[in-house]
Amino acid sequence: MRVLVTGGTGFIGRALVRRLRARGDAVTVLSRNPASVAAVFGNGVTAWRDLAEWTPETAFDAVINLAGEPIVDRPWTAARKRALRDSRIGVTERLLQAMRQSRQKPAVLLSGSAIGIYGNDGADPATESMAAADDFGAVLCADWERAARAAESLGVRVCLLRTGLVLHGDGGLLKKMQLPFALGLGSRLGDGRQPMSWIHRGDYLDALLFLLDEHGCRGAYNLTAPAPVSNREFTETLARSLKRPALLATPAWVLRAALGQRAPMLLGGRRVLPERLLAAGFRFRFPELTDALAHAESD
Ligand SMILES: NC(=O)c1ccc[n+]([C@@H]2O[C@H](COP(=O)([O-])OP(=O)(O)OC[C@H]3O[C@@H](n4cnc5c(N)ncnc54)[C@H](OP(=O)(O)O)[C@@H]3O)[C@@H](O)[C@H]2O)c1
Repeated sequence: MRVLVTGGTGFIGRALVRRLRARGDAVTVLSRNPASVAAVFGNGVTAWRDLAEWTPETAFDAVINLAGEPIVDRPWTAARKRALRDSRIGVTERLLQAMRQSRQKPAVLLSGSAIGIYGNDGADPATESMAAADDFGAVLCADWERAARAAESLGVRVCLLRTGLVLHGDGGLLKKMQLPFALGLGSRLGDGRQPMSWIHRGDYLDALLFLLDEHGCRGAYNLTAPAPVSNREFTETLARSLKRPALLATPAWVLRAALGQRAPMLLGGRRVLPERLLAAGFRFRFPELTDALAHAESD
């Protein structure tokens, strides 16, 4: 398959591009820094700086759209919110423009989204039929999905990747947590009752390739393991896997003071279930958190 990947230099994208190459796909990565593509993957991957390279004769079988500025790392000023939206919705709209002028449309678009679409303050488990919430993160995801769904009118099959907390030892949340936990400073957040809907990166990539290859799959899919846990359980399981104590708790008011508008992303959460993936016949390698953490370095 000829595959265009946006966000291919990131934590998820790097591992995805390696998987695609291992199965013989020809990969093009769109990156603001094409030199980093060669540095990460060598010469076997084509690097594009921008979509002006997509001519009417360009033919991709699939587009996988993962680009996006990191969401929790910096305060949500007006400028930051614009950057968060442009790096997702703007990139997706530019992909759509390129597809429109292309003679041969891709057969499939797999496009990023997140479980933040369901909001952070609900006890009910979320499946794909739940409506979007109305906070900043949820509206960001809903608009991102809408931009991608526009490809359906071009005859492209579209799958929306409602992504949970992706776990792997070489980046993302786990890497951020590893040092404090290794020092015995791991702590639950607030009262620790908020749900955490996670997925091992190996399962995430298996699911993504499943959606790529299963021609009957379209629409929104929750990419989360079938057994979400509370923040308290996550903290205790991670500490156990590192053979360290986790006796501390970071009070909610400290997080609110430090993170402002972003605090609900850590103090709230949603139990999200992968109903449509399971119904389509997908099988998880790491359905339980203990197993996922024991295999944190596995691809
Ligand atoms: N990791 C998670 O747990 C998680 C959870 C939910 C959703 N997601 C979503 O999944 C996607 C991939 O996540 P990740 O963890 O792999 O992210 P990451 O490591 O931060 O990588 C993000 C990628 O997006 C590209 N990017 C960043 N800012 C951009 C901008 N302004 N314009 C164009 N491209 C930009 C970067 O590519 P270049 O620097 O090469 O241009 C980078 O490769 C993101 O959209 C993220 O929101 C991730």
